[in-house]
Formats: sequence, C-alpha cells, structure tokens
Amino acid sequence: MPEHILVAVAWPYANGPRHIGHVAGFGVPSDIFARYHRLKGNHVLMVSGTDEHGTPITIAADKEGLTAREVADRYNQVIGDDLRNLGLSYDTFTRTTTLNHYQVTQDIFTTLYEKGYITRKLTLGAFSASSGRTLPDRYIEGTCPICGYTEARGDQCDNCGHQLDPVDLINPRSKIDGHPPIFRETEHFFLDLPLFAQRLQTWIEQQEHWRPNVRSFSLNFIQELKPRAITRDLEWGVPIPLPEYAQRDDKKIYVWFDAVIGYLSASIEWAKNAGRPDAWRDWWQNGQARHFYFMGKDNIVFHTVIWPSQLMGTSSDGRYAGSAQGAFAEVPLQLPYNIVSSEFLTMEGKKFSSSRGVVIYVHDFLSRYDPDPLRYFLTIAGPENQDTDFTWAEFVRRNNDELVATWGNLVNRTLANVYKNFGVVPQPATLTTPDEQLIANVETGFASCGALLEAARFKAALSETMRLATLVNSYLSEQEPWKVIKQDRERAATIWYVALRCVANLRILFTPFLPFSSQRLHDYLGYAGDLAGPLTFKEYTEENGMSHRVLTGDYTHWVGRWEAAVLPVGQVLREPQPLFKKLDLSLVDAELARMGS
Ligand code: MF3
Ligand code: ZN
Repeated sequence: MPEHILVAVAWPYANGPRHIGHVAGFGVPSDIFARYHRLKGNHVLMVSGTDEHGTPITIAADKEGLTAREVADRYNQVIGDDLRNLGLSYDTFTRTTTLNHYQVTQDIFTTLYEKGYITRKLTLGAFSASSGRTLPDRYIEGTCPICGYTEARGDQCDNCGHQLDPVDLINPRSKIDGHPPIFRETEHFFLDLPLFAQRLQTWIEQQEHWRPNVRSFSLNFIQELKPRAITRDLEWGVPIPLPEYAQRDDKKIYVWFDAVIGYLSASIEWAKNAGRPDAWRDWWQNGQARHFYFMGKDNIVFHTVIWPSQLMGTSSDGRYAGSAQGAFAEVPLQLPYNIVSSEFLTMEGKKFSSSRGVVIYVHDFLSRYDPDPLRYFLTIAGPENQDTDFTWAEFVRRNNDELVATWGNLVNRTLANVYKNFGVVPQPATLTTPDEQLIANVETGFASCGALLEAARFKAALSETMRLATLVNSYLSEQEPWKVIKQDRERAATIWYVALRCVANLRILFTPFLPFSSQRLHDYLGYAGDLAGPLTFKEYTEENGMSHRVLTGDYTHWVGRWEAAVLPVGQVLREPQPLFKKLDLSLVDAELARMGS
C-alpha cells in the first residue's frame, strides 16, 4: 500500500539570498527524502515557501531602502530560482503573503481563540528609543537575571538556557543602537502553552524514533512552558482576525505563528491548484499519513512544541472547522511524525556571515559549479549529526577523489566502452558466479540504502551507494574487459553487460542524491521518460487579483522505481558524456581570494 508522506521543509526568510549553509540544513536532505519516497511509489507532498513576515523582513527593508513587500517579492524570486537550480523538487513552494495563507492562518487563530487556547493580556512591550518601533526580543541584550551572563537575549539566555522576557533582563539595551529600550503597556495575544503541557509530554515521550537530541531538548523545553505571545507591535504581518483589530495597522500576528501554519496552507493551496480542493486531507486528516519536517537545529521547538500545540488546539474537539475552508470532516489534523533537524555548517572554520563576507550564496556557487557536486558534498560531509565545515579544498577533494574517481569514472568507462564496441546493451553469455554476485550485491542497495533513507540517515545512505559503485569498479579492474575483448568478444560482452546492469541500478540508487546526473545517465543508457525531470514555475492568481509564482513539477509521470532495474538487451545507447567535471586545485585560492575580499 502506498503511503502518504508529507515532506515539510522549513520556510526560508525572504530577507536575502540563501547561502549553502541554509540549503545544507533544510534543502538537500528534504529533497533526497522526497525523491526516495516518490521512487518507492509513495504519495509524496513536499511543501514550503518563503517566510515573508516579521522583523527579519522589515529590518532588511530598512537596510535596503525598500518596503517590506518589495523585499519579500525580490527574495521570493531569488530564493525560488536558487532552490529550483539546486533541484529541490517541491510540489508547492509558495509564499506566506498569499490570500490563501492569510485565510488559513486567521482560521487557526480564530479557532484557537474561540476554544480558549489564545488569551489576551496587557504586557510591557519593548520599543526602540530612537525609532519608536517595537524591538524584537532577540534584538535586546542584557544580563541574565538567573546566571549573570552579560550577553543574554530578550527571549533566552544562551548560557543557562532559560527562557526569558526582555523585562527580566538586567541593564537591557538594543542590539541595533545600543540604547536601553523603552517599555510601554501594550495588549498582546498569547498561545496558552501550559494547557498543552500534559498532552505534549505524553506525545513526545512516545516519539522514540526522533533523533535523541531533538527528543530530549523538547522534553526539557516543556518543563517550563509559559503562555507565548503570538502577536507583535508591527505593521507587517497577518492581520489579527478580530473586529477591534480590523482597522488597526500597528499590531499583527507574530511571524512564527503564521510561518508554521504554512505547512498546512501550502498543502491546501497545492490541492486547490491541482483542481482537487479536498486532496490535502489525504495527508492532514489521515491517521496513517506520516509527516517529516526538515530544518536547522535552531528551529526545533517551533516544530516539536509550538506547531504541535497549534495543531492539537485547532483539532482538540476532533475537528478543524475553519470558516474559509467550508465544512470540515471531523478528523483531527495530523501531528509531526519525525523532526529531521540538522546541525550547522561553517565556512572555512568560521560562522557564515554576510556582512563579513564569510559566505557563499547558492546562486554564486551554481554560477560556477554544477548542482550535483554541491548536493554530494552537503550530503557526504554536511552537518547531519554534528556541525561541519565547508572548505573549498575539501570540496575539490571530495569532487575529484570521490564523485569523479568512483562514480563518474565507473559510468564513464562503462558507457564509453560499450557505446564504442556495441552501441546497444550487449547480449551476455552465461553469467559466472562473480558476475551474478556482483549484480546481487548492487541490488541489495535497494534494501540497505532504502532503510538508511527511511531513517533519514542520508550520509550513511550515500556512503553505502558509493561503496556499491566501488565494488563495480573493482570487478572491472579484475575482469579487464578491455583486454578480454581482443581474444573473446563474447566474454567481454558479458562483463560489460554485467557492469551496465549495475550502472543501471546505481542510476536509481543515486537519483535522490544526484538527480541531474542520474537523469543524464538514464538518457545515455537509452531509457525513455523522466527519471528526475525538470521543475517548473507556475503563476497563480487568487480571488483578490494578486498573483504569485509557485515552484512545482509534474512528478507523477516520473518513471523510476526503487527496485532492481530492467535493462533490455539490445536497448540502443545514446552517445555518453562524462557525468562530472574534475576541478582544478587552483580554484581553491581563487575562491578564497573572492571570499576574503
Ligand atoms: N524562516 C525560519 C528560519 O529561517 C524558518 C521558518 S520554518 C517555518 O529560520 F516553516 F516554520 F516557518
Ligand atoms: Zn542565564
């Protein structure tokens, strides 16, 4: 039975171009996972979009002399292009400024409010002394009242880990201008998290398949739950859906409250755009569906505590009956199944920093190098389980000594020889035991790599696939078909056939990781159709007349299956080209010079 798998990918802020550290965290792993499940024949829905509200956007707007809307428009395009060029196969990559997203967010807010999960309170808000604007918690710094750490943030102390309130800080100051903030009374809405504490505890304790750090961090976090403000004194955001706020432009829903709702709203949008407006329920109101969330580690609590509370509260009496969505089935919304969070990537030993030039944007990278080598590096040497470092020297080494030398070389010599000598998949004579063993060994990859991919162990899965490619290289070195062909064409044909069968299988096994080169290989081998076809942009216009661009693709016609491949004898090959380029070591200095400047 095919499963319904939601691949829920963290929404990048539309406040600037994304660098390779970002896509190492949420991007490449989620795409590997989605492509694997599609090959398995599961019903995959991969959703995300740009996260366009809140202070990250208004601060960028101030800096660039643009409006928030202009900043969001600009970086929605830039980021969408980058993700497409990296081959991230979203079913829907949209934005949080759509009418649909506003409606779903307001529905959920209203539902939670009516059920008593959202309360209102007068609070002391921090405002900038110079601009009069609200000062977000994390832009306030001061001394932690608990441990005395002098650089605690308004929301949390990184030294002792306690959640804080800006008013708790001793000697608070604005990180923007250094002045102490002004505290004023202002009404805010709070998600009453303590009401969910018991349910969260029971639920998280059951999630034994979560990465241990995710589970223990979340269990620890819920030990001191407090109501959490979900509105901000800000003009830019989703309006609060209560009559007394309809005409006010100074208070909006907090960006994190609306961003996580994007997973649901984008699924609803996908269904509308597909002409099957109820189809999202197959993922969201289906107790069998499994939801996998992909993000960097700084996003964990939003996905293990806050979003689940929003979901539990919304469907607490067994339904989500949002007004904009019409009548809803009396079925609760599905909670996350797994939280796949990654650690951080550093760059040449330093933290990424756009202002200090320690950065490599996806766009710049892809203007000089191909996407598959980057996907390879970020998977094999990326921050899956621990912080890791990107260095140009290591990128070149991994590309040349691993990708090119192992997989590229295997494909190259096999295809070039077979194309030249036979032009088609050659007819084998009887297979020897080593021949059969090799084919069988490679075919075990579908089980072994599959199990690792299921468990979101991408690095191990890719290493295992590379190991299988190495086996085929060793086989060729032992069998030497290029020598055998001089005396025994029939045996040479058999050896090449065996190698070609293995390459055809590896083509599928590598597809989740290296979709661009796998598609080319698929063509060279003479197969028809798209194994990992093009991704497309579509423009959609909503009821309010506004249009936006969605990154999507028609994945249902893709032909690959996660199983031993059939390689018909006589299939006509196409003229092969090398899959990967060897990189010159001199680029290391050139790139380092570019970075330092
Ligand atoms: N924009 C956030 C970040 O870059 C991630 C948001 S994930 C969300 O850290 F889906 F919850 F929005
Ligand atoms: Zn502290």
